Order: sequence, then C-alpha cells, then structure tokens
Amino acid sequence: MKKLIEVALPLPEINDASAYDKMPGIGAHPKGIHHWWARLPLPVSRAVLFASVVDDPSSHPDKFPTEEAQERERERLFGIIRRLLGKKLHEHPEIYAEARAEMLKYCDGKLPPVLDPFAGGGSIPLEAARLGMEAYAGDLNPVAVLLNKCYLELAPRWADWPPVNPLWRNSLLGARASRPHKQWHSRGYLPHLDQPGLVQSITFRLYDSVPAHVVGSWRNELQCTSSLPATDPRMVELRKRIAEFEDAGHGACYLRDERIATLVQDALLQFDGERYRLLEWVIMPNHVHVLVEVLPGHRLSDVVHSWKSFTAKEANRILGRSGEFWMPDYFDRFIRDEKHLAAVREYIRNNPVKAGLVEKPEDWKWSSACEDAGRRPALPGGASACAPAPRLTARR
Ligand SMILES: C[S@@+](CC[C@H](N)C(=O)[O-])C[C@H]1O[C@@H](n2cnc3c(N)ncnc32)[C@H](O)[C@@H]1O
Repeated sequence: MKKLIEVALPLPEINDASAYDKMPGIGAHPKGIHHWWARLPLPVSRAVLFASVVDDPSSHPDKFPTEEAQERERERLFGIIRRLLGKKLHEHPEIYAEARAEMLKYCDGKLPPVLDPFAGGGSIPLEAARLGMEAYAGDLNPVAVLLNKCYLELAPRWADWPPVNPLWRNSLLGARASRPHKQWHSRGYLPHLDQPGLVQSITFRLYDSVPAHVVGSWRNELQCTSSLPATDPRMVELRKRIAEFEDAGHGACYLRDERIATLVQDALLQFDGERYRLLEWVIMPNHVHVLVEVLPGHRLSDVVHSWKSFTAKEANRILGRSGEFWMPDYFDRFIRDEKHLAAVREYIRNNPVKAGLVEKPEDWKWSSACEDAGRRPALPGGASACAPAPRLTARR
C-alpha cells in the first residue's frame, strides 16, 4: 500500500506556490509573526499533509486496474492539491473542506493526529489544524514554541473578531471604533487573584452625589469605625445604603452629559494594558465603578489620581464651570477570590439596569458590557447601541 506522496506530486505547481509564499510583502500572512529559519511554505505543508493521507491509486487495483485509470485518478487528486495551492486560502474554507472530505475516505472517517516535534515556524501543525487534524507541535527553541502557541492556541481563539487597529476597526465598525483602543489587553483576561492587592474594585463619585453628612450620619447610626473589616455586616449595610443613594441619581449628575461620560471612559481606557488592565467599568450619572488590575510598577492611588484630576479639569472646561468636580478620595476593595470577582463583575455590569436606566447591561453606552457587545460582530446591532466616541485628544 502506497500513499500518494510516495509516488507523485504536482511539483511545478507546488514550487510556484512556494515562491509566492516566500515573497515579501504579500499581506497578512502567518509568516509575518516571526521569520523562522527554513520555514516550510504553507502550500507545501498542505500538499504534503494531503498526499501523506490519501493513497496512491496504484494501491487499489480493484478500483483502478489499468495504468490509465490510475493516472486519471492521480490527476483528480492533483486537482485537489492544486486547489490547495491557491492564494488567500483562508478566504476559501470550501477548499479545505473538499480536501478534508477526500482524506477522510482513506482513514476510516477519522483523520490522524499530527505531531511535529521539530515544528520551528509552525507551518506543518498550522496547516494540519486548518485541514481539521488534531495538531501538536514541539521544538527545543522557546521562540518556536511561542510561535506555535500563537498559531495553534491563540489565533483560533480570536478568529473572526474585528481588528484592534483603530483604522481597520473604523472601516469595519464605523465611527464608534475611532477611540484608540487598548482594552484588548484586558477583555477576557484572567486576573491574578493570587497576588493580593493587584485586583481592586474602585468607586469614585461626583462631589455632590452622596453628601458627606449623609454618609456620616449612617456611619454613626451603624457604628462603623474605620477599623472594621470590609466584610463586617455594618460595613456591608453602609455600602448598600451608599450604593442605593448613588443610584437614585442625587446631585448635578454631570456624567449624564455624553461629552463628559465619553471623556471619563476614554481616560479609563487611555492606559489600559500599559499601567493597568480594566476588567469592567461603568460610568453612571453621578459615579464610576471600575474593576481593575494594576500592573507591576504602578500604584492604584496614582492611577486613580490621574483619572480624576485629568477628567475634572477637562469636564470643568467643557461645562464652563470651576470648583470641585469629584468627591475627594475614592472607595476601593481588594478582590478576594473568584466568587468575589464574579459578584463584583455582575454588580458593575448590572448597575445601570438596577438603577432603572436601561433594560439590559449592554444597552448602557459607557460600560464594559456595551463595549463587549459592540466588539462582537456576531451580535448584530450591538455596535450601534454604543455612542460614537471621539478621539481622546487631550493628554495629561
Ligand atoms: C528546519 S526547522 C523546522 C522548520 C519547520 N518545519 C517550519 O516549517 O518552520 C528545524 C527545527 O528543529 C528544531 N530542533 C532542532 N533540534 C531539535 C531537537 N533535538 N529537539 C527539538 N527540536 C529541535 C529547531 O529549533 C528548529 O526550529
């Protein structure tokens, strides 16, 4: 029994396709991630994988008794290989499907797994995965291992998501995408809960949202001293009262103004992925909740100070006012564990719904819930639910 690869391959066409694959500047291409020594051209990998699975027709004299019949069948198989040598094959899943269906005839309906222990630039496992095989890659060089992780694990996870690059996002998603996004560093990112102090839930409020005397009277009534732990029932009750008061929309509620909400949201996103990772956020009419993981080398107090001072100045300028904008200080809580994280996430996302502002979390324009909905092309109309956001031009 011989495989096709042992007998014949359409070499001139494979050579031509390989020359094209090796040409510089042919657009988005896996080889662009990192140039690897002696990387096999992708069309070669496809042809080789296909021809290693399908039998040469001479192995089936019952079906192809004459040399002419075998040659005809070989030509048919070459036809599939030629189609596999085409350009921009990622735009033609039907060609992969045709090859896969043909290969399945030769292996009892289950494609063999592929292990490339010298995977290098990853051409063979990448194409094996595209052909529907279970692909494994190994290499002694950690750079090659990273490359193969990108091809086999990371790229498929984000396949079909819109691009991060603002220009491309603009053309695909419209004006809303014009903000300089960096939140791809954080969205869907698993925070380091094992490092105490890194992940925190922050709230800061407009200066007139919850007057100090109101909080003071609750503190007295509940006998909340500053030494009480956050989990003490009195502290829980205090936070509940403050949250309900905030959500009732007291004060001037400057954050209802789209210009100010956008300003604050852009400020939050400005250093996402550089100084911190934003896990969730919501900008309510008179306060802001943020779930954030501060990156090493940065302090939460500096981060919050920078958000507040920049936005206070800009907001006052936009509104033509002066004086206090935010309440001094901010409220923070460390995230203890997964359960706590999930509860805080839920709280932040649901805050606009709970406050009666919208029906669904993703309908609130200035929130991670809306951002998530808008980023997913699978949710038609999700993007349009969010307000167009102008570029952040002012800098601290
Ligand atoms: C010619 S490259 C493979 C190219 C690959 N087929 C491609 O398309 O990119 C050979 C690879 O084998 C790796 N290698 C060499 N000796 C090895 C060993 N003993 N164990 C694992 N990998 C090894 C090298 O690091 C190199 O990445």
